[in-house]
Amino acid sequence: MKNSSPMLCFSLVLFSLLSSPSSSARIFSSVVPSAAPSPAVTTTETDLSSFTQWNILDLTDFKNLPDLSKLNISSLHVSPTVDSVCSGTDYAAECVVSILPLLRNFRKFEPKPIDVLRMELSALYEKANATLDLAKRLIVDQSTPRDVADVLDLCVENYESLLVDLNDASVAVDNGDVGRLDSLVSAAIADVVTCSDAFTESPELESPMANVDAFLKKLCSNVLAISHMIYM
Ligand SMILES: *[C@@H]1O[C@H](CO)[C@@H](O)[C@H](O)[C@H]1NC(C)=O
Ligand SMILES: *[C@@H]1O[C@H](CO)[C@@H](O)[C@H](O)[C@H]1NC(C)=O
Repeated sequence: MKNSSPMLCFSLVLFSLLSSPSSSARIFSSVVPSAAPSPAVTTTETDLSSFTQWNILDLTDFKNLPDLSKLNISSLHVSPTVDSVCSGTDYAAECVVSILPLLRNFRKFEPKPIDVLRMELSALYEKANATLDLAKRLIVDQSTPRDVADVLDLCVENYESLLVDLNDASVAVDNGDVGRLDSLVSAAIADVVTCSDAFTESPELESPMANVDAFLKKLCSNVLAISHMIYM
């Protein structure tokens, strides 16, 4: 993976107030709270605090990602900008929940729509990086069937390409280049779809990546929608 640093720079600036010690190589993981259990599905207001604990990097229970479909984002009481920007996406709950850990940095001032775009892209990058890591771990895991591991090899290639595309996408945001951002995020979606399709072509194989792939695609869709709100 090209580890050039626009994403890192952006994170360093955005999260420089974070006090937890971390090497620059771990900057992404330092912006989220330490591992917390995935929240249970909830529709009541009192339970929602679990979502603020949700660690987007935590794929330990990757087959049971939280079902966000019943989440009422208004009840999370995020800032009006985040609420209205995310409400304009197809996956509003995913939009808000994925950036909750990053919103801690905006307690004192209101994020602008462009900040929401950067946070969503950053959350997507972190999740994609964690997904790549998960696929690599599954490949070497003895309990993974060999034919599944073979398909995962292809997924790893595509997740690596995904990270490069998302990194370039953050440069496009910095440059306000919406055309380039569009094509990079479309390429990112294609990277994810290639992995999903490889499993669809072998119906006897169950994809261990199905849930995370679906989540990545939703965040990609949200990034496109938010960028169109801002630039069009
Ligand atoms: C990507 O994931 C790896 C493995 O979990 C981690 O060591 C690395 O710090 C992550 N990189 C970024 C930029 O988040
Ligand atoms: C969503 O939450 C808000 C704020 O708590 C509440 O006013 C609203 O009625 C809820 N909407 C639904 C559909 O439950």
